[in-house]
Amino acid sequence: MTQSFQKVRALTGMKDVLPDTSAQWEALEATVREWLAAYGYRNMRTPVLEHTRLFTRGIGEVTDIVEKEMYSFTDALNDERLTMRPEFTAGMVRASIEHNMLYDRPHRVYAMGPVFRHEKPQRGRYRQFHQIDVEALGFAGPDIDAELIVMLARLWKLLGLTDIRLELNSLGQAGERAAHRAALIEYLEQHKDVLDEEARRRMHTNPLRVLDTKNPAMQDMADNAPRLFDFLGADSLAHFQGVCDRLQDAGIAYRLNPRLVRGLDYYNLTVFEWVTDRLGAQGTVCGGGRYDGLIELLGGKPAPAVGFAIGVERLLDLCAQSADQAALPECQVYLIHQGAEAQRLAAQLAEKMRDAGLRAIVHAGSAGFKSQFKRADASGATLAVILGDDEIASGTASVKWLREQVAEGQSQQETIPLDRLVTELTLKV
Ligand code: HAM
Repeated sequence: MTQSFQKVRALTGMKDVLPDTSAQWEALEATVREWLAAYGYRNMRTPVLEHTRLFTRGIGEVTDIVEKEMYSFTDALNDERLTMRPEFTAGMVRASIEHNMLYDRPHRVYAMGPVFRHEKPQRGRYRQFHQIDVEALGFAGPDIDAELIVMLARLWKLLGLTDIRLELNSLGQAGERAAHRAALIEYLEQHKDVLDEEARRRMHTNPLRVLDTKNPAMQDMADNAPRLFDFLGADSLAHFQGVCDRLQDAGIAYRLNPRLVRGLDYYNLTVFEWVTDRLGAQGTVCGGGRYDGLIELLGGKPAPAVGFAIGVERLLDLCAQSADQAALPECQVYLIHQGAEAQRLAAQLAEKMRDAGLRAIVHAGSAGFKSQFKRADASGATLAVILGDDEIASGTASVKWLREQVAEGQSQQETIPLDRLVTELTLKV
């Protein structure tokens, strides 16, 4: 007797993508690859597991991600501290340093895949989610910041999305941030009485994040805090203006949001997010910005860079709201058969159909005509091809239309000689 086994379920916050919805994933991935190729971006694949210190150093010790969201563990086999990537950027930069990619020219690269953050799951927030990550490594000017944003506007258009808007800010350079930080800490000290516990804990380690609060009692304080934007010097302002001018050239509207600080420490100058009101609380579909110091911070020769990541689940959720999401048919032709000879003939014919570029399914095993028709219908196929004793005797196949797209003058069912079957079907579906 088998021992009773408690059924295994997927981990909290980690979702299965089933065949009916994976069609949307595949369609999105195909669109995205073409879109990226049109701008000269090439694919790069880095490991899911990296040394923990890559992320603590790269993303920053006092960020939510590093403080409380990373899937980190010690590999019992060799005692190494490892982390499942919570984002792509640090790993992409590590790889570019390791393989000396930037020695002779900059690179436009992208990656897609799962990332992991131990957050409280809710709509649009998962523990395993997927990103489309795009990085322009080795580019310094505002032209490339703008190119990335223009590129995203094109993607939204390709996907038919309209309710998505751009928020923009500049985080300046380290010196400007330090001056602002000092002024901000002083301001927070003066308003200590309205700060919640987390804000008090953070005011000395990461005061900028305090302003990102969702606590309504702290909004007034946050609104009136010293703005980093007011501490920017001429070069930073010129860079920002360069981005804005180019966005204006491209007809892209944006809102300057001085409170936009992003949740990762590596940013400088341009930062941006694309947000929507249609996804509830988790409305940020894409976030990114410039990170000119990260390559050096991770041990590479200093080089500027800028990039963004799109949350795939959020993007698909948004697409689902603006499009007809009929599940993709499993095949075009479903072959129904009765008797051993007909079954083998069906398998041979299906191979010929596939040679001709058709998607075909042969009913597996044997069953009555009625239940085979039911399966054919459920598969979403356009046509059923029926092979039985009568058909074999006369060297023909019966073809039945399963959808309502029968053209005028065409009957619901017809008989086609076997030697012409594949050619005729390629013309019909
Ligand atoms: P991020 O803002 O942390 O940036 O994440 C990018 C996007 O991933 C978010 O805008 C959101 O759509 C999605 N996302 C984040 N957390 C979750 C979650 N728990 N569940 C579902 N979706 C989520 C980065 O990761 C940077 N590496 C972006 C970047 C690339 N900056 C420069 N280059």
